[in-house]
Amino acid sequence: MVFKTHKTLSTQIEKLKKESLKIGFVPTMGALHLGHISLMEQAKKDNDVLVVSIFVNPTQFDNAGDLKKYPRTVDKDIELIYKQFGKTQVVIYTPSIEDVYGKQAVSKRYFYDGLEHVMEGANRPGHFDGVGTILEFLFDKVRPDHAYFGEKDFQQLQIVKKLVEKLNLPIKIVGCSIKREPHGLAMSSRNERLSKQARKDAAFIYNTLQKAKIHFQSHSIPSTTEMVQKLFQQQPDMKLEYFTIASEETLVPVKRKFKKHTYRGFIVAHLEGVRLIDNMRLS
Ligand code: PAJ
Repeated sequence: MVFKTHKTLSTQIEKLKKESLKIGFVPTMGALHLGHISLMEQAKKDNDVLVVSIFVNPTQFDNAGDLKKYPRTVDKDIELIYKQFGKTQVVIYTPSIEDVYGKQAVSKRYFYDGLEHVMEGANRPGHFDGVGTILEFLFDKVRPDHAYFGEKDFQQLQIVKKLVEKLNLPIKIVGCSIKREPHGLAMSSRNERLSKQARKDAAFIYNTLQKAKIHFQSHSIPSTTEMVQKLFQQQPDMKLEYFTIASEETLVPVKRKFKKHTYRGFIVAHLEGVRLIDNMRLS
C-alpha cells in the first residue's frame, strides 16, 4: 500500500506492530535502481514487512540547483517495487514536503562525534543535519526493527549508526555492499543525468579505486593519494573534488597506516556537471 501522509502510515505501522511483525525499512530519495533494490531484497529477506520511503529531502541539499535537478520518478518507482516484491507486506511512504516539515523545511543540528566534520560533511555544509532530521522523523514514524543503508554512502552509513546510538533507538542498522554497473560505475540516481558516453567514461572512478587499492598494499597513504591525483590530472573531463583515505571507524583522514585499522579510499568527482561519489576498502 502507498501512504502519502505520516498519519495514515502510523495507523498502518500500529497494525503491523500489534501483529508482532518485523519491519525492515529502506529510506530512499527515489529514482530507484538496482542498488536500492538490493537493499530492499535484504530487508524483505530479514523481516516480515518491507517499508520503503521515497522522498527527495530538501534539507540535505546544500545546492539549490542539485535539488532542482534531482530525478523524480515516483510512479515508476512504485511500479518497480511492486514488480520486484509484490503488494503483500510491502508498505510505501511517499510524503510531500509539508507532511514531513510543515510550513518550513529546516533541519535540526546533530553532533556525530566528529564523523560530520570530514569529507561530505566538510564539502556539503549542513548535509548531515538534513540527513539526521529526515531519518529521525522517518524512524519515529516507521519504527523499524532493521534499517538498510548502502556502503555507497559509507560516511552516511556510519553517521546513521551514530545517530541511532545517540538517540538510543531500538533499530539495527544494516550496511549493504555497493552495486555497480557492468563496467564498474557505482549505481546512482544521478547517473541518469550522464550521457551514454560519460556513463562509460565514469568507470574511470572505479578503476582508479582499484589501482589505489593495489598501490596502497606497498606504498604510504600520501603516495597513494598522489597517484590518484595524478591519474585524475590526465583525465581533463573529470574533476576530482576529493580523494581521501580514512579509517573506516573514525573516518578521520590520515597520513600514516596503523595495522589494526581498516582503511577505505573515498572519491568524489564531477563529470558533465554531475557529482559522483564512490569508495572502496583498501586494507
Ligand atoms: P538515496 O541516495 O536514494 O539512497 C538510498 C539508499 O540506497 C542509501 O542507503 C544509499 O547508500 C543506497 N544506495 C544508493 N546507491 C547504491 C548502490 N549503488 N549500491 C548500494 N546501495 C546504494 O541516501 C539517501 O537516498 C538519502 O540520504 C536518505 C538516506 C534516503 C535520507 O534522505
